[in-house]
Formats: sequence, C-alpha cells, structure tokens
Amino acid sequence: MKATGAATAATTVGLTAQGVAADEHTVGAMLNDMSIAEKAGQMIQPVVNSLDPEADSTFQDVSEIGDLISEVAAGSLLSGGSLPPTTDPQELVEKVNALQEYMIDNSPHGIPFFYGVDAVHGACYLDGATVFPNRLNMGATRDPETIERAERHTAAVLEATSCHETFAPTIELQHDPRWGRFFEGISEDPKVLSDISAARTRALESNDRVTSTVKHFAGYEVPHNGNDRAAANVSMRDLRETLLPPFEVAIAEGPGMVMVNSGSVNGIPAHASRWLLTDVLREEYDFDGVVISDWNDLFRMIDRHQYFPDTEDGRRSAVEAAIEAGLDMVMLGGGGLTPPEFIAHVQTLVSNGNLSEKRIDQSVRRILQLKRSLGLFENPYADSSNLASLVGNDESMEVATDLARESMVLLKNDPVTEGGPSALPLSGTENVLVTGPGIDPETGIENRILMQYGGWTLGWQGIEGGSLTDGGPRPTGTTMVAELENALGRGQLTHVPTNFDRSQWWSIPEDSTNENGEYGFTDEQRSAVESAAPDADVAVVVLGEGPHNEGFGDRDTLRLPETQREILQTVVENTSDDTTIVGVEYAGSPRGNDETFQHLDALLFAGEPGSGGGKAVVETLLGENNPSGRLGFTWPKQVGHVPNYHNAWPSSRHEPLYPYGHGLSYTDFEYSDLSVSPSNVGNPRAGRTVTVTVDVTNTGDVAGDHVVEVFNTEFYGSVITRDRRVVGYERVHLDSGERKTVEVEVDMEALEVVPGDVPALGPKAVEAGEYELTVGTNSDLTSTLTVRTTCGVGRVRHLPGRFDADGDGEVTVSDVLEIYRLSKGE
Ligand code: BGC
Ligand code: BGC
Repeated sequence: MKATGAATAATTVGLTAQGVAADEHTVGAMLNDMSIAEKAGQMIQPVVNSLDPEADSTFQDVSEIGDLISEVAAGSLLSGGSLPPTTDPQELVEKVNALQEYMIDNSPHGIPFFYGVDAVHGACYLDGATVFPNRLNMGATRDPETIERAERHTAAVLEATSCHETFAPTIELQHDPRWGRFFEGISEDPKVLSDISAARTRALESNDRVTSTVKHFAGYEVPHNGNDRAAANVSMRDLRETLLPPFEVAIAEGPGMVMVNSGSVNGIPAHASRWLLTDVLREEYDFDGVVISDWNDLFRMIDRHQYFPDTEDGRRSAVEAAIEAGLDMVMLGGGGLTPPEFIAHVQTLVSNGNLSEKRIDQSVRRILQLKRSLGLFENPYADSSNLASLVGNDESMEVATDLARESMVLLKNDPVTEGGPSALPLSGTENVLVTGPGIDPETGIENRILMQYGGWTLGWQGIEGGSLTDGGPRPTGTTMVAELENALGRGQLTHVPTNFDRSQWWSIPEDSTNENGEYGFTDEQRSAVESAAPDADVAVVVLGEGPHNEGFGDRDTLRLPETQREILQTVVENTSDDTTIVGVEYAGSPRGNDETFQHLDALLFAGEPGSGGGKAVVETLLGENNPSGRLGFTWPKQVGHVPNYHNAWPSSRHEPLYPYGHGLSYTDFEYSDLSVSPSNVGNPRAGRTVTVTVDVTNTGDVAGDHVVEVFNTEFYGSVITRDRRVVGYERVHLDSGERKTVEVEVDMEALEVVPGDVPALGPKAVEAGEYELTVGTNSDLTSTLTVRTTCGVGRVRHLPGRFDADGDGEVTVSDVLEIYRLSKGE
C-alpha cells in the first residue's frame, strides 16, 4: 500500500481492475456488471474510526476496515463528529488517498468511495484550521455574500484533504432554544435562513470535487418538547409556509445530497415518509441527487420511534420502508444495523419481490452519477499540493474575523451613571478586570476557547469532547483575553479565570439540571475577584454555556448557571456604582435573563464566533468595531415562553426580552421616506418583485454598518397573518452624518401563504389585498403594497402527493379506485 504520492497517481480507475478505461465505462455498464449485494454495498456509508485497512472496524461482524472495502465494497465512508481519525491535514489526505487506492485494488469493481465529514462551520475537522462562526452567528450577520466566500474556503480545504462530502448546510429554523442544536440554526426567519443556506450550498457546490448535503429534511427543528429527535407535530401550513421553503431554495442550488431528519413528523418517521422523500423532494423540488439517512437512522425507526419491532423482520421492514420512501444511501454508525445486515436485507427484499431491482438500480445510479460528477473515476485521489497554504491561511482568517465582527450583537448598552455616556465602547485606558469561566487552574489550558467555538469543532461535543488536553488539536485563532492583553497597556488587565469543565454529556439525558458545562468558583478565585474589583474601572464578566450538541445539549432552563450568577454578584458587591460592568456572553442559545442582566451596564452577545472571535470581541469592546449584528431569533424572558418566534400567529407570543432583529450600535440610524415601487401590483406572478426604498441616515458620531430589514406586519387575508415576516434586507455602511437611499428587493414569494381551511392542502398563493411593509424592529415606518389578484408565484403550486393514494408517485385511475375503496371500506 502506498502511503504517499497518491496525489500524483492520476490513473484512470473505476473498472480499471477489469481493464476497462474510465472514458469507456458508463454508469449503466457498471450497473450491469454488479450483483445485488454489490449494489447494496454502494448504498452504504459506514463509519470508520481509522483509515488503516488493517485496523479494527467498529462493526462486530466486519472485523477490519479493509473488509468494508474488499467484502462489502462500501460506496462511501464517513467519520462523524467533525473528528476524523487524524486531524493532521497532510496525514489525513495521505491516508484517505491510500485507502482509496486500497479500494480500487481490492474491491470487486474498484469503484472509488467518497468520504464524508462534518465541515459544518469551516474546516472544523482539522488541526490549525480556520473555524468560521457557528451558524447562529452566521444568521446574525445577515450577510450571505461573506458567508459564501467563507464556504468557498471550506470547499477548497475539503477538496485538498480528500474529503468529498460535507454534512452541511444545516437548514433548521431556530424555533425552540431548548433544543440542543439551536446553535446550528441560522435564524427563526425562513427568508434569512433561505438566503444564507442558498449561499452556503452554492459555495460548497462550486467546487467540483465536493458535494454539499442539505440537512436534515425536514421538520427536525420542531421536536414537540424541545428534545433532540423527539416527535414533531407540525401543521401542514407551517410545513409548507416556513419549514420546507428554505430547503426548496437551497435545493434549487443543486446540492449533490440531502440528509433525512432522524425524527418523526406527524406520526411518520421522516425516513419512512414517501411524501417527504419522494413527493416533495423529488417531484416538487426536482432533486436528482443522493438521499442519505442520518446516523443509525434505520435502526432508530426501531429503537426510538418503535415503528417496527426489534426482530429480524422488523429490521428488514425498516430497510424496505426507507428505500420505498426514497432513500438511496444509509449512514451506518452507532451499532444498530451493520453493513452485512443491510446488504442481506436488500438481497432478501429483492428476491422476495418486496423491492424491485429497478428501484435499487435507481439509487445506485444516483450514487455512481454523484461519483462521476465528483471526478472520482477520472482521478480518485486528492491533489494536496496547496494544502499547507490553505489550512488556517490569512485570507480565510480575514473572512472569519469579518464574519465574527458582523455577528457581534450588542444587547444592552446603558450609561453607567445617570446622564453619562453609554458603558461601551471602552476608551482603552481603563483598568480592566476580566473574570468568568476561563482557565482550568490544574493544567493551565485555556478552556474558554471551548465556549468560543461551540459544538462540531474538532469533536462532536466541541474540542476533544469538551475537555482540552495539552497539545491536543486546536483550531486557529486567538481568545478575548489574549487580544485584551495585546490591546491594553502593561498592568491594565487583571484576569481571574474561574473553573470550567465539560458537562459529562453521556449522563445528561438523565440529568435535567444540565447547564452545558460545569462551572466552579473557588475560594481563591473569589478572593482574587474581591481584591481586584475595587480597583477596576471596568469589570468584564464572561457568561454563557459550554460547547454541546444534539440531545446532550438539550436544556430545560435558559437561566444562566448559578455559579456564573454568583461570580457576577461578587463583582457587583465589590465595585462602586461608577464601575462599568460588562457581560460578554458566549453561548449557542439565548441563555440568561434580566435576573442576571439587570446587573450589567452593557451586554455583548458573542455567540460562538469561532477563530476570529477573540479579535472581534475585543475590537467591539474598544469601539474599533461598531457592532452591527442582529439577533436572528427572539430572546425569551424565560423558558416557559418558548417557542416564541416572530412569525407566529398573533396571540401566541409573549413579550420577549429582546425581539428578533435586536442589536445596538455605537451610533444612531434614522429612517425616512419609506416607499415601495410599484405600490400596486396587478398580478404578482407577472410582477414578481417590488423595490422597497428607504433613506437611512447615520446621525451619530461614528461610522457603522446597519442592516435594514423589511417586514410584512399586517394583512387581512383568508388565513391569519403571522406577526411579522422578513421580506428582504440589506447591510449598508454609513459614515457619521452620511445618508443613503437603500433599496431592498422584495420577491413576492415572501408574501405567499397556504390559503384555505385547517388541513391547508390547497395551492400556495399571494392573496389580493393591502400589505403593510415596515422597517425597524419597532415598525418605525410603514408603507402599503396593494396586490389586486390572488395567485401563486412559487413553484410549489399544489400539495404534493395529495391524490397519490397508493404512493407510487403518480396520480392515476388506480388512486381514484383506492380512495373509493378506502372510503367504502371495501
Ligand atoms: C447528526 C448529523 C451528522 C452525523 C455525522 C448525526 O448524529 O445528526 O447532523 O452529520 O451525525 O456526524
Ligand atoms: C452522533 C454523531 C457523531 C458520533 C461521533 C454519534 O453518537 O450521533 O453525530 O458524529 O456520535 O462519535
């Protein structure tokens, strides 16, 4: 086996083992040559914990990784949790290339595999990589263009490390902050989520050697009790108006793959839903790529959803149901179903006639076509020649820092003394005390970076499972404390770190007091704060939560941990009234409320800002960056108020602590002259876009960016109008005193609803009437758009599959007979 030099081995492969040149073979020829077992092998993506063919496999019935190749001929391999077997970029590409060579030499047809990783916010699977802000920060920027630049870098690193598939982008609305994956959502608003997801998909797909995986289709983000993978109960209206449209928009960018939601939707596991996986995804959205399951999800239909019994028959039925529904590839990890088992079930199902070989061929064809489009048959090996100059390079760090800056949300900025200036920005000449969860005193390892980067960073639950080791892999970037040390003069900074450790995440499901981190405040740390606080002009208290992920991140409370409240209390008690107390919060959810925040003069929500986070936070505190981030979600006053998103029906919302779109600046922006043109649209299908124009003036003393967001807030139609919906937005830069006329294009699609009675089965439409369009989080200015004809403008005109009673994807006379039969009970 050749460990190096693989990058130059650009030989033609595929059926080369049988002497067939790459340009001669076609996908059809390959299919003709394959047995059912070989076809089923192409349909699996087992997890590998090593890239060495002789290493033990995680599956008991497959003894070595090499057996997944020579015996099973797996179509794809994955390493989950943003943690491949090696995080060293060069070693990774050499190992994947070498394993690929092993595949070509040892598998029945020498068909190359593709390898999948979770590069979900930058190349967050590599030591030394630039890690872009986590998704909740991406949403706060309202800046799809810069995010697109970031994801082009991610794609280039994926290509150079021989990682062909990334399990991104995540397309989840932020509806419920109890959910442990809230930080992976971009926004609670479908328009913002759609734009940013489209940009991410476009960027990832712009690289010929990489496929994106739009996930998790669909309804994953609304588990009814806020717990990961709990059942979703969602109205057809919500599905069609808010949950599905961001997928439709991203799928229009041509992703190679779509991953299925592990949960159930309205009583059907998404993996068994023909409506979702075929009627909507294939027929309405024209998706022609590969549909992959999530981790262990065929078995999840048994152990979690109890949809099938845990018997041989039950397992086989799970395989049948998923393939029938439209699944092409299964991600196999975490036990449950093993590679040989899956293959045996497919063989039996085909020989029994329960699944047709035609149906299997359909999936395998899609998989082989994806491999062709990735160029794997022409050259199965990665070219890593520019790897060293790519990973963590200056250009990517600039983009990461720009995004981090744009994502800083200043929640609060009061004057410290009555009539005085606002607490922030600092002048830089103050004596500053920084305290809060920071350095583990035992080892001296900086732990705050765990909070800065969040989950899916060199580990599933965050770096090394949320517990750093000396010399362990790290993303690039600096911390807030390091940047403060640079920025402030000698002797100006006192740092009193307090204890922080990971949550014992494996015990969290039983522990409802989980705080996403364990925090300590030792007597020694308390004394250090007590002695430093009286001399401080400014006290910066770090608040928030540690990295987390999936069910282990679910939270029953949004209150900040008691220890953090105690630290703040100690600061308050030992400082005078004119000491500036600033909170900097690192979190993946809206943690905290006025119980804590009332003690702060200013509060900066940094989210999980990634590699550029340290710099962005300090620049913001010192006024070098004027904050312009806007909350992409509603910050509730307390957990009992959730869900509380802004585009819900009136009467179903509580007064939030901070509304959607909240975010202060060091300057003031004033709106004037709002208008919409044309203001009167005859047919919204013909006149698909209107332009909202508004003048924005920077009336303050400093330059700044400002996001103009246009909402629809009022309309009287056949269904209740949601409180507010974003219809468009624009980020602009204004110098002090500058005035700009900002134009925001509004696509009529943003005004579509599903009209009609409770079942919400009719075609979508923009209804005739008068729409109130507003700017400003308090609806500062209003303009009216009149639509004269009710009609649909988007692609999804009818409820997919409504009359397809037998679920074969077509509406024929047999469906009518079936409906008749069902209604008569015959
Ligand atoms: C997650 C996916 C992820 C996969 C591989 C699953 O548990 O739900 O989002 O891509 O693991 O790590
Ligand atoms: C999770 C995956 C993750 C893996 C890491 C699983 O339990 O569901 O998302 O990639 O663990 O080991």
